[in-house]
Amino acid sequence: MAAKTLAERLAEGDSAHVEVEPATIVIFGSAGDLAQRKLLPALYNLHVDGLLPPRIAVVGTGRNASTDEAYRAFAREAVQRFSRRPIDEAQWPAFAAALFFVTLNLEDPMGFPTLGARLDTIEHERGLPGNRVYYLAVPSTLFKTTVEQLARARFVGPPDTGPYARVVVEKPIGLDLASAMDINDAIARVFDERRIYRIDHYLGKETVQNILVLRFANSFFEPQFNQKYIDHVQITVAEDEGVGTRAGYYDQAGALRDMVQNHMLQLLTLIAMEPPYSLEADVVRDEKLEVLKSLRPIEGEAVDTEVVRAQYGAGFHMGTPVPGYRDEPGVKPRSTTETYVALRVFIDNWRWAGVPFFLRTGKRLPKRASEISVQLKPVPPILFNKDPAARLDPNVLTVRIQPDEGLALGISSKVPGPRVRIYPVNMDFDYGSTFGASSPEAYERLLLDVLVGDQTLFMRHDGVEASWRWITPILERWAEQPSAPLPTYPASEWGPPEADRLIESTGRQWRKL
Ligand code: BG6
Repeated sequence: MAAKTLAERLAEGDSAHVEVEPATIVIFGSAGDLAQRKLLPALYNLHVDGLLPPRIAVVGTGRNASTDEAYRAFAREAVQRFSRRPIDEAQWPAFAAALFFVTLNLEDPMGFPTLGARLDTIEHERGLPGNRVYYLAVPSTLFKTTVEQLARARFVGPPDTGPYARVVVEKPIGLDLASAMDINDAIARVFDERRIYRIDHYLGKETVQNILVLRFANSFFEPQFNQKYIDHVQITVAEDEGVGTRAGYYDQAGALRDMVQNHMLQLLTLIAMEPPYSLEADVVRDEKLEVLKSLRPIEGEAVDTEVVRAQYGAGFHMGTPVPGYRDEPGVKPRSTTETYVALRVFIDNWRWAGVPFFLRTGKRLPKRASEISVQLKPVPPILFNKDPAARLDPNVLTVRIQPDEGLALGISSKVPGPRVRIYPVNMDFDYGSTFGASSPEAYERLLLDVLVGDQTLFMRHDGVEASWRWITPILERWAEQPSAPLPTYPASEWGPPEADRLIESTGRQWRKL
């Protein structure tokens, strides 16, 4: 039976009744951070919710020799540590029985036929039709090699014949525009676009999916969403953690590549896009692409004034002393990698002309908090704010992405009493108290969509390239100035003073989170 599209599922109002064909999920890099923290717990939760197909196999591969039993023990520990739900002993055995492990060096062409033979055996024993999802949970430098090996070992048949073969790739796709295009081209030589699922896990978050519902299922907001009524928009993705154990990757990447090129630009496209004419994957992705194409380039000297980068120094996190970035394990002692970035961005289209979008993200900020706030223009200074000393707070619509998922509408209200005194108040919607139970993790939704074959929440090649096209001149400018001073901020503070100046020079302020 053909898989249902997102539009059909939304129309039915129930994502629980989705037909999912039996399949084999092959995870390359199955003992890594991503598999441990996200993929295995997500698969487990899908299993508990009855959303996985009735027959499935999850085959992990990795360089270091291991066994099915050891992999099941590894998965159990991963689920214990990182799942949103504790292990249900009644459910675990069936899930564990679907897990397998194959030792594989991705660079060794001889390994793939061995993997193929094992997959055939597992599929035969479990009655699986040979539908396969190849999940590349490996560094992007290995994407090309892996898909080439898949092609060489004849793992990928022609599209639309026989069982399906889909590939899932994780961000970051490349380090700049040229490398992203190179990776996209290499994958496209093996898989056609309809079989490529490029993950940006922010798109799987409930609150992020709700942005389109908020904008296009309500008539309150959309009429205001343009340069006539909006003063500016702020997008903040703040993390309180430092680089942790990921210095090997992060020190090469930095905040601009790690967070802005993907997650933050995705949030920007959703809050700024035009209404799509349908919820078909490509229609939605076309509209998002238009936003990326309309971004005013930040190039050359403009980078110095429109973008602030900084690195965290030592400080305290929840009362405990923490090292500065350069003293973190695995970070080069003279690293100039940015752990914070703030930008002023313009979308040069009819709707948003002249409206600044302020973006900021960083590690080791005071708290984990992500939100989009849309600030409306002030009312004319005629009545309650006629006196310049009696400023009224402008209306603000805030989408709280995490952790206190919800929405707030900041409005002005009269304080009860004989005098006219005006006070800013909040109308608040909170997911937890309204809908109860904890929301599914982003990866649950995304893995399910891969199995169903719905690409709406995945990035298309042209979207990835458009965002790199916009980001790359900023990276190039920084590369031209290797000894430019890099501001620092103490751990657990809201970034450097330069970032405050970026917004305050326009008469505005960062919101207090
Ligand atoms: C990842 C980044 O994509 O997103 C990490 O590589 C970051 O550096 C993480 O910590 C944040 O994700 P979330 O879902 O915790 O906001």
